[in-house]
Amino acid sequence: MTEEHFSAKPVSVTIQSGKVTWQSPSNIALIKYWGKKANQIPENPSISFTLNNCKTITTVTYTLKDNKTDFDFDVFLDGDRKDDFKPKITTFFKRVEAYFSFIKAFYFKIETSNTFPHSSGIASSASGMSALALCLLSIEQSLSDSETLDDYFKKKASFIARLGSGSACRSIEGDLIVWGKNDVVDGSNDLFGVKYPYPVHENFNGYQDTILLVDKGEKQVSSTIGHNLMHDHPYAQNRFQQAHVNLKKLKPILESGDLTAFIELIESEALTLHAMMMTSMPYFILMKPNTLEIINKIWAFRKQTGLPIGFTLDAGANVHVLYPRKDGDEILEFIKHELVAYCQNGQYICDQIGFGANQLL
Ligand code: DP6
Repeated sequence: MTEEHFSAKPVSVTIQSGKVTWQSPSNIALIKYWGKKANQIPENPSISFTLNNCKTITTVTYTLKDNKTDFDFDVFLDGDRKDDFKPKITTFFKRVEAYFSFIKAFYFKIETSNTFPHSSGIASSASGMSALALCLLSIEQSLSDSETLDDYFKKKASFIARLGSGSACRSIEGDLIVWGKNDVVDGSNDLFGVKYPYPVHENFNGYQDTILLVDKGEKQVSSTIGHNLMHDHPYAQNRFQQAHVNLKKLKPILESGDLTAFIELIESEALTLHAMMMTSMPYFILMKPNTLEIINKIWAFRKQTGLPIGFTLDAGANVHVLYPRKDGDEILEFIKHELVAYCQNGQYICDQIGFGANQLL
């Protein structure tokens, strides 16, 4: 499949205005996307759990305008105008313009809110960009005369979301999504995320992700800069290769439900991601002292109890504590008593594996 598959549908702009709302979740990568080529093409495959509770809700109100030569939009977060979001959305509109024939014909009022605390350090780009992409798809559908098949809609939504933020392409559906061409997963490709198509053991049903908010401050190095530092990185090629190998290893683990092997693989992925940051030039560290305190406590508790608790990290200091639902009570008690003390203002979010985005209006 190529980009042409997602070219702009002919639309009739006789409709003067309309409104659409989508809610879309965040996701947490088990095998990490870190490094990209031009046009948001990943250097290696990644796989993620879609989350259930951390979501962005976005309403786009569109109104036909006279001037059809420029983008025209405003963005609001929780009702407050956010002009500092505009450059990112302008970049996104430029990237997706070729795939929609109506973007310059309308003024868009984009109203967005997150179910998780703003500036919690949780990446809202995956949920935010996927929600916006879905709104654009719905607008295209309502302006178009031809019917859009559900499968095409989801693929194009993921394709468009990717152009906003790479990881956003994994938020349209759940519960396990693969993005990036590889030999392990049939149908995998660089343009959009696909559902993981093979057997998954019941150990992973309702898998828990408790997100410990270690540092809610602005990241010193954005993901975009971090990805770019993988160009000319001395270990980049080995890392990209390792992601393929890890995906191959993950397949039998997901099938058998071997949680010891699962934890070993995801923790190694998380630490490799941060090792890539530390060995970039310029080098940087996104973990904080409390990130390491938490990791050590998790390892000690696992050793002492034998319970299958593990962690992953995204591009920040927060820790995602991952564990099966059946051990949830005991592990959550441990988290509350031993780990929450390391969180900024004691803040954490209980989430679990989820099933993707929903249209609300
Ligand atoms: C560490 O998707 O935020 O979370 O494509 O530049 O928007 P851009 O990057 P982004 O990178 C996410 C990196 C990660 C790993 C992952 O989610 O796979």
